[in-house]
Amino acid sequence: MKGYDFEGPALELGALVTDGRADPSQKIRIPLAMMNRHGLVAGATGTGKTKTLQMTAEQLSAQGVPVFLADMKGDLSGLASPGVASDRVTARAAEVGETWSGTASPTEFFSLGGIGEGIPLRSTMTSFGPTLLAKVLGLNETQESSLGLIFYFADKHGLPLLDLKDLIAVIQYLTDNPEALKGIGGLSAQTAGVILRSLINFQAQGADAFFGEPEFDTHDLLRVTPDGRGVISILELPAVQDRPQLFSTFLMWLLADLFEGLPEIGDPDKPRLVFFFDEAHLLFGDASKAFLQSITQTVRLIRSKGVGVFFVTQTPKDVPADVLAQLGSRVQHALRAFTPQDAKALKATVSTFPSSSYDLEELLTQLGIGEAVVTVLSETGAPTPVAWTRLRAPRSLMAPSDPAVVRQAVTTSPLLPKYGTAVDRESAYEMLSARLTPHAPAPTAPAETAERPRERREEARERPGEKSTLEGVLGSPAFRSLARSAASALGKEITRSIFGTARRRR
Ligand SMILES: Nc1ncnc2c1ncn2[C@@H]1O[C@H](COP(=O)(O)OP(=O)(O)OP(=O)(O)O)[C@@H](O)[C@H]1O
Ligand SMILES: [Mg+2]
Repeated sequence: MKGYDFEGPALELGALVTDGRADPSQKIRIPLAMMNRHGLVAGATGTGKTKTLQMTAEQLSAQGVPVFLADMKGDLSGLASPGVASDRVTARAAEVGETWSGTASPTEFFSLGGIGEGIPLRSTMTSFGPTLLAKVLGLNETQESSLGLIFYFADKHGLPLLDLKDLIAVIQYLTDNPEALKGIGGLSAQTAGVILRSLINFQAQGADAFFGEPEFDTHDLLRVTPDGRGVISILELPAVQDRPQLFSTFLMWLLADLFEGLPEIGDPDKPRLVFFFDEAHLLFGDASKAFLQSITQTVRLIRSKGVGVFFVTQTPKDVPADVLAQLGSRVQHALRAFTPQDAKALKATVSTFPSSSYDLEELLTQLGIGEAVVTVLSETGAPTPVAWTRLRAPRSLMAPSDPAVVRQAVTTSPLLPKYGTAVDRESAYEMLSARLTPHAPAPTAPAETAERPRERREEARERPGEKSTLEGVLGSPAFRSLARSAASALGKEITRSIFGTARRRR
């Protein structure tokens, strides 16, 4: 198809459809070199978004590009198993001019905090930062900025916030010590109390699993197999499906951390990683202005670090205009037009496409399953003509992999020894409960207390009432040395990124 003949390597999306018939000689493709210019996969439920993602991920992997994707429903685990030939698959392959054979891709399975199948993925509280945490907790803007002050306070005093109980301990300390609280301009006791209650609530819902060490090193998403195929990292989310705010902000944390850690490389021949952000409406919905600005900026800047981001959602309307404007490739599956709202969304979608000879409003409601309206960036960076496309079928399994396949992948993973077991290092909670008076109550279960070093517990008992102001405690030589060792273990300096996330100097 004119406009889709590229010189360099490309991903094969499928074949052009004219009057309902696919023409196998008219290939629709995306240049590999343009995969860092981001994209959008949209469409109503059941129209083929996930299969598009699967088919694209496979091809990226085959061309040596690592992929990250979130598996919302468990159906993407099929990437780990070869697809099964069927009449439908064979017919589609003929329609799009493909020689199809069932092929598995190299995969790595992750889970949030070890909930569900997969290598546990965790972040420290310090690294996660106040902006993302405020989003998870549903804080308003005043509370969000107050939380920022609390993090700043902890950063400044060398109080490592590794897990939830560290943050809770710091806020409890502040609310129990009005003078310390006064020292942080702009943080009211009332707001601190609200944040504290919402954190305790969050903890009661089992959120401890997601925060702590060992923290995930996002460089582990950039792996390539010895035979040159990109590893597809699949974050299995079915077990935490009822916590959309949690997993969407976690995806953002991964992206922000990658952004922080990767050097600039300009526009490479092929991306270093392609990151698929599924159910993207969850990320943007109810987001504060600051949060949206941070996403926009991260997406804009991460391109020159060689990372492509593809948002997957129902309609382009789910994505803020500033972000949408940066998405070079568009794979738009069918939309419904049942309700007046649907009709509005449809019109809005049409308005985001370059002009073409199609009546898009009509075409978009008539696309078949596994078909899409496509426009991508050509190798010169200009948008390609809008093309009605019948998409290729994935070569891996179009259903979840056998659970035994996933389990086997996890138990034999080289990452399991690194991340498999949670550790609870000395951090703000231990430091504060060791050094402070009974004013700072222990916020967690007795089991934790029992694990604390004996000497420290005794120290705390021996000196009740000592040092009631923060400066007194934080200034004591014992505390300072404790803080120093903890801070150096954490990485000397805490610098917060555009997203309020922090990363240790590795
Ligand atoms: N490219 C394709 N080739 C062959 N079959 C396809 C293709 N795309 C979709 N299908 C068929 O359509 C079904 C639904 O597709 P898919 O699960 O990708 O939809 P979806 O848009 O992700 O839906 P949801 O919003 O519910 O997640 C698949 O199970 C498959 O049978
Ligand atoms: Mg889907």
